[in-house]
Parts: sequence; structure tokens; C-alpha cells
Amino acid sequence: MHTTQQLSQGLFWVGGNDRRIALFENMFPLSNGVSYNSYLLADERIAVLDTVDSSILRTFLENIDAARNGRPVDYLVIHHMEPDHCAGIVELSRRFPHITLVGNAKTFQFIRQFYPGIELPTLLEVKDGDTLSLGRRTLTFITAPMVHWPEVMFSYEESEGILFSADAFGSFGALSGNLFADQVDFDEVYLNEARRYYSNIVGKYGQQVRLALEKVKDKEVSLLCPLHGPVWRKDIGRFIDLYKTWSAYEPEQNGVLLAYGSMYGNTEKAAEIVAARLSDRGITGLRMYDVSKTHVSYLIADIFRFSHLVFAAPTYNNGLYPAMEMLFHDMAALHVQNRKVALIGNGSWAPASAKVMEERLSAMRDMTLIASPVVLKSSVNDEAQKALLALADQIADSLLK
Ligand SMILES: Cc1cc2nc3c(=O)[nH]c(=O)nc-3n(C[C@H](O)[C@H](O)[C@H](O)COP(=O)(O)O)c2cc1C
Ligand SMILES: [Fe+2]
Ligand SMILES: [Fe+2]
Repeated sequence: MHTTQQLSQGLFWVGGNDRRIALFENMFPLSNGVSYNSYLLADERIAVLDTVDSSILRTFLENIDAARNGRPVDYLVIHHMEPDHCAGIVELSRRFPHITLVGNAKTFQFIRQFYPGIELPTLLEVKDGDTLSLGRRTLTFITAPMVHWPEVMFSYEESEGILFSADAFGSFGALSGNLFADQVDFDEVYLNEARRYYSNIVGKYGQQVRLALEKVKDKEVSLLCPLHGPVWRKDIGRFIDLYKTWSAYEPEQNGVLLAYGSMYGNTEKAAEIVAARLSDRGITGLRMYDVSKTHVSYLIADIFRFSHLVFAAPTYNNGLYPAMEMLFHDMAALHVQNRKVALIGNGSWAPASAKVMEERLSAMRDMTLIASPVVLKSSVNDEAQKALLALADQIADSLLK
């Protein structure tokens, strides 16, 4: 039994979906699972490109059996050694004793670290630009270090323009049977999850992503095969442009994200006042989140998306409300930069949260304060209301100019 699908002449998708998984990397909530894509390229010799996570190993092995049509697998190309793609390495090596594992020096170091003591088959160590002929087709290896692990590489098949891009261009969200992005409403089903995947998993490595994009910029790509989410054969340029925007830390669109933390509802009220005024001023597409409620990965995704960010948080033990602290920690860790920001603090005896947020922002790059922070003393009084409306006006002016 198998779920293999043919993508092109001799190219098969042999991956699978895990819809039971609750947390990717035991951290990121998944509402509709994730796919682990693997590809089998059958030519005079057969290459498998990456394996899968242990959760779907059985499906993967059945799919390989269907696609290889009785022939042995000659090569296993390993683009990335993160365990969500490696559960089949040992099993394929056992089933096909003459298999050659293809990777770079770091790949093989990581195999030995993750699977200590296993007997490895033949290894073919490749460097940037090396090629491997499968007969009619040839794979060229393109190293993409730190996108988002050091051993990451892409492979490019020239005759058809197929780019196997490892985790780059991946997305959260299981596949529905339709493997191609153009077979589904990508914007509705996957775009937010592709952004959340990029920003949280790869976001820190914008510079390395840009270097990798630079390496493939002159290559004709007609089929883009990532390790998670849909495969691309149409409108590939649009997705590559999104990667250029995200990796340059440019906002994808003009718009406002409001993220607040609040115990008793007063800071929340302040954020609501600002949002209402922004709407009054004609700003649409506003997004507001409670940082205690919404997982930080969704906030990070919208922070990568929008140009203007409003953060509102109470003081907590002379510092910043912990859930907001967590968000600021992640923003710094992921190298968030180049945004316009407004801050609202709150405190009953010695408000410090606005100051802490300002300090955190000043340690990031090109995070510009639109105006001085508004600091509440416990709740929104008349004076604070005026200050919040003025703050909202300055945000609106900055957006509309
Ligand atoms: C555990 C705890 C610690 C707090 N620490 C401080 C503090 O160090 N300084 C201060 O001014 N207010 C402190 N506060 C008070 C809140 O910041 C303040 O009441 C604020 O108005 C709450 O806003 P909210 O209604 O949005 O939750 C603390 C409150 C709690 C529950
Ligand atoms: Fe990965
Ligand atoms: Fe992955």
C-alpha cells in the first residue's frame, strides 16, 4: 500500500503527513500537522532525496517500495540532518547494502553523532558545486550553510530545473493529497503557516538565506521541492520574492500588529483604545493578540509580516510581564529588525515595563520608536486616554504618509 505520487518523469513524492503531531520541535503548535517530503528520482540509477520523521517511517518505506519498482536504491542524498528527515537513513542502509549516502563532511559528522556505533554504508562526500550523475539526469550540490543548520545543502537538477531546497521554502500544514501549491488555495491554506515556519525556524538566518538565494538566482527553477508543505511548479517567483522580503527583514505589508499582556484588563483596554482610533483613522487589517493566549510563534509570524508594531505590557516584579518578555526574547533571537514601534507600559507603584521594552528594542537593529511610550498608572484615566489617542494618531500618520 502506498501514497506515492509522480511529480514528473521519474520523480516521485514518497513522503507522508503527520496530523497527530501537536507541537513541531515539541514547541510550535500545529493545527493541521505537517508533511515530511521525500523524493525518489529514478533514472539509470535511483536516488532518494532525504528521508522522513520516525512518525511516518512505515508509510515512507511503503512509498519507496512502490516508486522503486523492484529496483534497488543506489543513492540517498542527505540535504539536512535534522531528525525530522533522518528516520529512514539506517533502515534504507540496511535494506540496500550497496546504497551510497551522499552528504558533506558535516552531514557525516552529524550521522555519527545521532546514530553512534552504526555501521555506515559507502559514503560519498561532496562539496559545493560537485555533481552526481544518475544517467540522464545529474544533480549539482549547492551548500546552504546555516539555512538553518550548518550541513544544509540544496540539489539542482539541470535538465528540468528541479531545485530540492531542504527546509527552505517549507511550510507547516499537512498536504491534502494535492501536492502542488497551485492545486490548492495556497494563500488561504498555507501562506500564514509558511510565514510562521520561515520566521520561527529559519528567521534568525536571513543573511544565510540571502546568500543561498544568491547562489541559485541564475538557475532556471521549474520545480521547487522543499522538505515540508507544497511543491511548487507555478508562480515560483512569487514565493522566492517572499523569501527575499522575509530574509531581508523587510515588512511584507504596511499594517499594524498590536500585542498586549494584561492581568486585570487595564493594559488590554489601552491597546483596544489605540486599535479603535487606528480603525477610525481608516487603518484596516489590524491584528491584535493577547501574548498570554496566543503562542509566540504566531506573533513572530505577524511581526515578520507587518510594518508597524504596538506592544503594551504591565510591569511585573520591577520588570516586564513575563509573556511579553518571552516575545521580546524571541524577537531579538530571531534578529527581528527594521520596524516602526509604539509602546504602552503600565504599573501601579513603579512602572518599568515601557523602559524595559525600550531597552530591548534599542539592542535590536533599526527598530524605530514612533513616539515616546505611553505609561499608565494602573488604569486608563482621562489624561492617559488622550495620550493613547495621540499615540494612535502618530501611528496612523506614520502608516499613511
Ligand atoms: C506579581 C505582580 C508583580 C507586579 N510588579 C509590579 C512592579 O514591580 N511595579 C509596578 O509598578 N507594578 C507592579 N505590578 C502591578 C501591575 O503592573 C499593575 O497593577 C498594572 O496596572 C496591571 O495592569 P493590567 O490591569 O493590564 O493587568 C505587579 C503586579 C503583580 C500581580
Ligand atoms: Fe530543519
Ligand atoms: Fe525540517
